[in-house]
Amino acid sequence: MKLVRYADTPDLQAIRHEVLSQVTFPEYLQNNVPGNKYWGRLYEDFPDFQLALVDGEELVAELHSVPTAWDGSDADRPSGWDEGFLRAFESGREPDVLCALAISVRPDRQGHGLAVRMLDAMRAAARAGGLRELIAPVRPTLKARYPLIPIERYAEWRREDGKHFDPWIRVHERIGGEVFAAAPESMVMECPVSEWEEWTGMRFPEDGDYIVPEMLAPLYVRDGCGRHVEPNVWLRHRL
Ligand SMILES: CC(C)(COP(=O)(O)OP(=O)(O)OC[C@H]1O[C@@H](n2cnc3c(N)ncnc32)[C@H](O)[C@@H]1OP(=O)(O)O)[C@@H](O)C(=O)NCCC(=O)NCCS
Repeated sequence: MKLVRYADTPDLQAIRHEVLSQVTFPEYLQNNVPGNKYWGRLYEDFPDFQLALVDGEELVAELHSVPTAWDGSDADRPSGWDEGFLRAFESGREPDVLCALAISVRPDRQGHGLAVRMLDAMRAAARAGGLRELIAPVRPTLKARYPLIPIERYAEWRREDGKHFDPWIRVHERIGGEVFAAAPESMVMECPVSEWEEWTGMRFPEDGDYIVPEMLAPLYVRDGCGRHVEPNVWLRHRL
């Protein structure tokens, strides 16, 4: 298996949505604000940080990340995924850290440790890019089963053996990542109810708070508009 840059492999870039993101993430997540605005530019502006893992000819995993500004203080910490991403394109500041955007492993290749390989690749890219550390607004994979639990509580859940409750956070911690903050408003989406209905395959007939499969927190529907605030957990990998 080898890692290649998407910027050098347009044929892989052309199939990545169908093979990976479309099947690894819920549909609504493909419609977030910074992604709609800047995803395409990631490959042009930051080609070293968008990588594909190929096994022979097959695309099996991918990572996306963006160098962004953060001076390391609590006051300057991005609120989450949206701000980490937007800051890279809109702040005009020099980047200090690499901010993870997503890692996906093809479903039939999950559970075999490829995520560690991708995280290692992200850390190596950050180091090669002269960045101070890798930070990740982690989307905890099991949080969708606990949509009513505040992320500040979930971030602290540990098993009896001391390891984190969440499998994806566990992977980060296993190779040296540290939880350093909750990100209760990591990704904010406000869209017409008709769009939420299309993305989720559910109907939202009246105003209310809805539990939607795969969402980490409820969807709030008011006056024809659906608001979803995705909570994440900040992890850092010092290099
Ligand atoms: C999260 C993800 C990147 C992990 O990749 P992976 O290569 O499967 O990771 P690993 O093989 O190291 O497994 C990680 C942990 O998840 C568990 N796991 C992996 N695949 C699983 C599955 N299909 N169902 C349930 N648990 C699974 C493993 O048991 C392991 O937990 P452990 O600490 O008990 O061993 C991958 O599952 C994925 O692409 N998910 C969809 C996209 C996503 O949510 N990405 C993360 C947010 S950016």
